[in-house]
Amino acid sequence: MSAPDDAHPSSPEDAHPRTLVIIPTYNELESLPVAVRRAREAAPWVDVLVVDDASPDGTGDLADELAAADAQVDVLHRAGKEGLGRAYVDGFSRALQRGYELVVEMDADGSHRAVDLPVLLERAEAGDAPDLVIGSRWVPGGEVANWPRSREVISRTGNTYVRLALGMSVGDATAGFRVFRAATLRALDLDEVESAGYCFQVDMTWRVHRAGMRIVEVPIVFVEREEGVSKMTGGIVREALWRTTAWGARHRAGQVRGLLGRLRRR
Ligand code: GDD
Ligand code: MN
Repeated sequence: MSAPDDAHPSSPEDAHPRTLVIIPTYNELESLPVAVRRAREAAPWVDVLVVDDASPDGTGDLADELAAADAQVDVLHRAGKEGLGRAYVDGFSRALQRGYELVVEMDADGSHRAVDLPVLLERAEAGDAPDLVIGSRWVPGGEVANWPRSREVISRTGNTYVRLALGMSVGDATAGFRVFRAATLRALDLDEVESAGYCFQVDMTWRVHRAGMRIVEVPIVFVEREEGVSKMTGGIVREALWRTTAWGARHRAGQVRGLLGRLRRR
């Protein structure tokens, strides 16, 4: 890929901040080309970084072909499948190294509609730009289409648990379609992020929230994939459950310590 600066010389798109859409992939051969094309068409000024975990189905090679055909597409190859969280942390590091101002998370499987991409970006570019924009299923106007009832229950219950455990009023903390300001990512210690699976999304939301930064949710329609299979596992749900419980317990313990300290000083 050429330097992102050269990629779109003095076009009207220069009015946009430099934006990188990170798409993590594991066995997304059928879905990826469509996702990349649609994202680039919906927001032609964005660059795309595919982060592939050595997919056995050859998604990594396909991504290289997409990159060869489009100077605004790049690929980060990782040695093996270590989970969504690790893939995004590596993608974020590359985005910060290369000086992008906005960093987007987007799935490869079409669940995140390209038409919503410019909508999220517009919110992230607005004068009162929040530190994190979440494309949310569980706020008014948000929806899921064709999602198995079991997945909807897990997502809704999980988000309710997150709100109760962490005392954080975010409707869709596990959402995977979001826009970070680069400054937001820089303010966090990404080396500390241990979440491997989808609780990485909760982890990042919780870090942004605790840092006192502003989170805004924009309703999206999440459409179940048509090709390939979900990489969601029982282990991913269990990791989310125990980590959220641990974060909540630590947070409450901190609150109690603070309260006791104040009482003692009276
Ligand atoms: N590089 C890499 N490594 N990519 C991965 C890995 C991994 O270990 N696991 C999953 N992915 C990629 C998939 O290829 C896909 O592009 C994206 O991450 C999301 O994975 P899916 O398997 O399609 O997730 P889902 O549809 O079941 O889950 C969605 O909902 C979750 C719960 O709300 C996603 O939007 C998640 O981000 C979200 O947390
Ligand atoms: Mn999916």
